[in-house]
Amino acid sequence: MKRFFFKTKNHFQKTKNLALSAISSPKLFYKLLINLSYRLKATRFVLKYCDHGASSTFAERPPANPLKDYFENNTEGHGIWKWRHYFEVYQRHFSKFVNRGVNVLEIGIYSGGSLGMWRSYFGNQCHIYGVDIENACSTYENEYTTVYIGDQSDREFWKKLRENTPPIDILIDDGGHTPEQQRITLEEMLPHLRCGGVYLCEDVHGGLNDFAAYATSLVDELNGTGELNEFQKSIHSIHFYPFCVIIEKHTVEPDRFVAPKHGTKWQPFFSKKKPNK
Ligand SMILES: C[S@@+](CC[C@H](N)C(=O)[O-])C[C@H]1O[C@@H](n2cnc3c(N)ncnc32)[C@H](O)[C@@H]1O
Repeated sequence: MKRFFFKTKNHFQKTKNLALSAISSPKLFYKLLINLSYRLKATRFVLKYCDHGASSTFAERPPANPLKDYFENNTEGHGIWKWRHYFEVYQRHFSKFVNRGVNVLEIGIYSGGSLGMWRSYFGNQCHIYGVDIENACSTYENEYTTVYIGDQSDREFWKKLRENTPPIDILIDDGGHTPEQQRITLEEMLPHLRCGGVYLCEDVHGGLNDFAAYATSLVDELNGTGELNEFQKSIHSIHFYPFCVIIEKHTVEPDRFVAPKHGTKWQPFFSKKKPNK
């Protein structure tokens, strides 16, 4: 049966997991089915949207981006390998940490250039932690850079790392890029991120990416109504960019969300409707 109905072993495994989740949690399965119709609507909308043509825009001046400049000028020496469109995203989410005593952890060292780039950007007070599975990467250790050699999909490795490092302000996952590695790393390290911290997972590729699906389910938790759940108290926001997911933590945890009405003049038509606030 496997051979006829499923193109790959992975495909079979995914279908099996979905069926198992349907048995173990009918409520979850019902939700998935309801969401499916909205997923199809979104696909239809995107097809129409693509026919719509370009929107008009105001002439934006390109903002200063020291990280991008560093990358473009790094034409010799230790290599840096990044998608170019990430630099606008980095600047948007990281600039508030510049010249602060932050702890930055990057998974995926490769040729060491990005470790130097983070140090140059965040300034002399920061400390950089690098993680890689390859022993050769330990050569990039110095007085402001600590290197850990290990496998990001190994929970024991993360346990030991947490015992030896202070809470992290910024985590960049640029390691093996499989959804499973990305998920395990997030589960082990998001709790270790300091309040106000930023978690960035790179190279989330493909329309039906499992890590993107996982992160989308985290969005569901963030949108939960009623009493704030612990996730809402801790997590400020989740951002999606092409190939990249960002999670930001609250600097100060909220105890509830409120939607007060300010003003004295109101239209009468809304009074009967009870908004979900
Ligand atoms: C894309 S490169 C990193 C690029 C680097 N951050 C840069 O900007 O130039 C990916 C790195 O992740 C490492 N890696 C692959 N699988 C890993 C795993 N399971 N755990 C930790 N590191 C891994 C590889 O050895 C490689 O050095």
